[in-house]
Amino acid sequence: METATSYLGFHLPHPFMAGASPFGYHLDTVRRLEDAGCAAVVLHSLFEEQLTARSGGRIRHMAPPDAAFAATAVTFPNREDYVFGPEEYADHVRRVKEAVRIPVIGSLNGTSPASWVTFARLIEQAGADAIELNLYGIATDLLTPAAAVETQYAGIVREVARFLHIPVAVKVLPFYTSFGHAARQFEAAGAEALVLFNRFYEVDIDITHLTAAPHVELSSSSELLLRLHWLAVLYGRVRPGLAVTGGIDTPEDGIKAVLAGADVVQMVSALLRYGSKYIQVMRSGLEDWMEGHGFATIDDMRGQASLERALDPAAVERAGYIRTLQSWGH
Ligand SMILES: Cc1cc2nc3c(=O)[nH]c(=O)nc-3n(C[C@H](O)[C@H](O)[C@H](O)COP(=O)(O)O)c2cc1C
Repeated sequence: METATSYLGFHLPHPFMAGASPFGYHLDTVRRLEDAGCAAVVLHSLFEEQLTARSGGRIRHMAPPDAAFAATAVTFPNREDYVFGPEEYADHVRRVKEAVRIPVIGSLNGTSPASWVTFARLIEQAGADAIELNLYGIATDLLTPAAAVETQYAGIVREVARFLHIPVAVKVLPFYTSFGHAARQFEAAGAEALVLFNRFYEVDIDITHLTAAPHVELSSSSELLLRLHWLAVLYGRVRPGLAVTGGIDTPEDGIKAVLAGADVVQMVSALLRYGSKYIQVMRSGLEDWMEGHGFATIDDMRGQASLERALDPAAVERAGYIRTLQSWGH
């Protein structure tokens, strides 16, 4: 069985890798991932707000003298609450690179063009093999059209990709009216891979204290279907590689992701839940399935469940939607 795959120009023995997470904080945990057979690792993110706070004292557009600044600023972590400051992050990348041989991908996280290039370069100079840009933003301004947000995001990708020699992957939320078009814009801007998708971390309301109540819950397989859907739509129709993140919990989930079109399968919740050795369970589950279904290489199976050959993918989508509703009670 040949489970080898390529991602961002790296030849990987299999598609299972660690997504951005606290696994990246410590050399020991990254080493453990490598020892467990993890194909590559994305480090936790350096946040734009850390960069702007450090360079000009601002968080997003807010400067300390702004009247409204104090109330909003306290909702962001303090500078010292981040596990790594910007320079420490670059040093950390350097140490991780010295400690492991698997590809190490740095992560930058934000939504505006500020400060990115300088820090992307620092991370590149520190030896990162690639950068994942996480464009996690929720457009709450009622006057900004979707196209303007997409143009801004594509502009960030372009700016970073233009100044770096290492490949740039782009991780996004799924909420676009026409995600396929947005994907093409990221492609044109120089993205070498699309990472589908950020989870939307909805903040709950604490009705006792009347405050926002943020919390992270680990994902389950139920989140995967949205990702499968977009992998299937994009496979064979965009140049960037495709990574899935969100809802990979079992070997079956990994198999579905590759069948839909994924080049690599990023995992976080499952590794936190079952430990780094779970990578081997994923890999052998894939191998057994390939053997049982007569696929000699992963390239043969990738995209078999995609819409690449559909003459009218939108009609397939509509038909699936109507059939799903009709299936109730049958
Ligand atoms: C505790 C925790 C910390 C995370 N930190 C980051 C981060 O720093 N940057 C990032 O892009 N994603 C981060 N993520 C999101 C993961 O990379 C991943 O996209 C998400 O958890 C969905 O994948 P999963 O279903 O395999 O968990 C984090 C997730 C968790 C659970």
